[in-house]
Amino acid sequence: MTPEVLIQHAITAKNRAMAPYSNYSVGAAILTETNSVILGCNVESKAYPTTLCAERVAIFSAISQGFNKFTALALITNDGAFPCGSCRQIIHEYAPDIPIYIADKSADFITKNSSELLPFPFG
Ligand code: THU
Repeated sequence: MTPEVLIQHAITAKNRAMAPYSNYSVGAAILTETNSVILGCNVESKAYPTTLCAERVAIFSAISQGFNKFTALALITNDGAFPCGSCRQIIHEYAPDIPIYIADKSADFITKNSSELLPFPFG
């Protein structure tokens, strides 16, 4: 699957974001070794710290559906932001050594890997 197609899946996820407090929607799509695409969006809560990020929703969802080998991850926000620290830790642990396409609202993207995002990881 091309990065562009995986990013289109991430756009679908972003459109499902529940972000009434930040108004900042994030979409993620992770590609499994068997070519399934699992989506994640950020889901915010009235109890703010309970919020979950899109990347972790995608990875935890994939794992809970029985997938644990991944080949690419796409992430999209309006401004092309990089993953937060907590998500970098989870990407490092559960989706290492894969291309991570980080896209903005025009679907322009740059590619990073987990060791670039988290160079001195815990664990
Ligand atoms: N958010 C993500 O979904 N992923 C990140 O890597 C950083 C932040 C979400 C959490 C919250 O719903 C909104 O973006 C603003 O922080």
